[in-house]
Amino acid sequence: MDVKLAIAQSLSGATGLPAEELAGYIETPPDPSMGDYAFPCFRLAKALKKAPPAIAAELAGRLALPPGIERAEAAGGYLNFFADKADLAGKIISRALAEGDAYGGADIGRGGNVCIDFSSINIAKPFSIAHLPTTAIGHALSRIYRALGYRVIGINHLGDWGTQFGKMIVAYKLWGENKPVEESTVRELVRLYVRFHEEAEKDGSLNDEARKWFRKIEQGDPEAIGLWQRFKDLTLKEVGEVYKLLGITFESYAGESFYEDKMQAVIDELDDKGLLVVDNGAKIVDLSEWNMPPFLIVKTDGATLYATRDLAAACYRKKTYDFVKSLYVVAYQQNLHFRQLFKVLELMGRDWAKDCEHVNFGMVSMEEGTLSTRHGNVVYLEDVLNASIEKTLEIIKEKSPDLENREEAARAVGVGAIVWGVLYNGRIKDTSFSWAKVLNFDGETGPYAQYTHARCCSVLRKAGAYDKEGVDYSLIREESAAALVRAVAQLPDAVKSAAEKNEPYLVARCVIDICSAFNKFYYECRILEDDPKLRAARLVLTDAARQSIKNGLYLLGLEAPERM
Ligand code: ARG
Repeated sequence: MDVKLAIAQSLSGATGLPAEELAGYIETPPDPSMGDYAFPCFRLAKALKKAPPAIAAELAGRLALPPGIERAEAAGGYLNFFADKADLAGKIISRALAEGDAYGGADIGRGGNVCIDFSSINIAKPFSIAHLPTTAIGHALSRIYRALGYRVIGINHLGDWGTQFGKMIVAYKLWGENKPVEESTVRELVRLYVRFHEEAEKDGSLNDEARKWFRKIEQGDPEAIGLWQRFKDLTLKEVGEVYKLLGITFESYAGESFYEDKMQAVIDELDDKGLLVVDNGAKIVDLSEWNMPPFLIVKTDGATLYATRDLAAACYRKKTYDFVKSLYVVAYQQNLHFRQLFKVLELMGRDWAKDCEHVNFGMVSMEEGTLSTRHGNVVYLEDVLNASIEKTLEIIKEKSPDLENREEAARAVGVGAIVWGVLYNGRIKDTSFSWAKVLNFDGETGPYAQYTHARCCSVLRKAGAYDKEGVDYSLIREESAAALVRAVAQLPDAVKSAAEKNEPYLVARCVIDICSAFNKFYYECRILEDDPKLRAARLVLTDAARQSIKNGLYLLGLEAPERM
């Protein structure tokens, strides 16, 4: 049984409070000399009407210790529990190995649906590193929620609607030199689009022309719709390659255009509920009472907006998926938009507005000179990934000249380095890339974690077959071995906290802790000992470390090659 739950049951016996609740309060002490588990007694202060230190002292004296716990000591307002080391090692290692690829997960989601709107690229626009955080964070959260038993609906809310597509058509017709869309690249389309803006400054009629074409798209004119669809197909084909490199798939590509016929119902509902105000010919929802500017629903010329489509999308998602949570992984530049959106949903009486969350993040930049600006000031994600794969291949050729399948390893590590770069810090921090930082095999990086995993695999390969049954866990007694057990034990909690806070970095930190603990253990304890009992004990621990690192990397969207 789960040690925490066992402790909680003893506490429940002593206090009469429900064990489930108490289990949720149990923490891991910051320093192992303070024990393996800590119960903060201030949680009981109200119910027991006593000061926390008095509660701790009293409980330490009379608590019936559960099996696996050697002693309990009061320390200030905390009651610290010291586990029997062999018992703890046995429990953690056998759990990690029995659960295998599922270790770290749980069933708290119980099949509840979670919508995750992420990556959400724009058609005929660059898939640039600005979209890397939403892509990496959203992908990691998808895997984390799935591991916790939720059903995840990953949604790529495509930016595929708006007057820019009218501009795109005009530019393509004027300067596209009759080159079929299928034979163009997104970069070429982007160049045409940039040219449109330059020329439109000199010749305003181009904008009228563009509006005309967008109107045609809205009215379903076959030529206009046909071109729009081809721009879309081309973009999706290109970004598909990037998603493949990253191992990402989506359950839905319903983008802005998908809501074209679903907005009127929402506008009518706003009107019926008396929320719509006409302001200078535009229709808005007044949010001044909440110190926010008005939410613009319909422009003076009758056009709907990004906001209108998001309102329709939120309602559609609730109706279609009946989510328990709906996440929007979008940069903090859109903080206001989402605050407004959720407030309007609330005013419409949608009580599920509280289940919607804007998972925001900071900006990414490239450190000067690390990638050429040959494409203007836009840095394409695909270029960054490919450059990283190339650099990794050079490093591998130098460090492991005999490695087979080195292209495969270079891809996994090169891509992993970039993804890890955005996941290792809290979301809201702005990040900057430097190759030296990202590709460091020793720092707290993706390659370091992948390398440590490969090291575990290599030890296990060298060991060959050994007796995994009847392992004597009391042989795991060195401090570095015990520390590794504790690090491995943290993974399930890290995964849960990562979902609670929508912060994948909590998993990344846990992976690094396991890696550092393993490397310390590796240098301090000879794993391939002659004594078969000691060897077996160290090997199962190595195997549990391997499994946890692999699972943690997977949850972050990284591969774990066995050799590198
Ligand atoms: N396409 C938008 C952008 O690139 C992000 C869309 C985010 N999702 C949403 N439902 N608004 O900025």
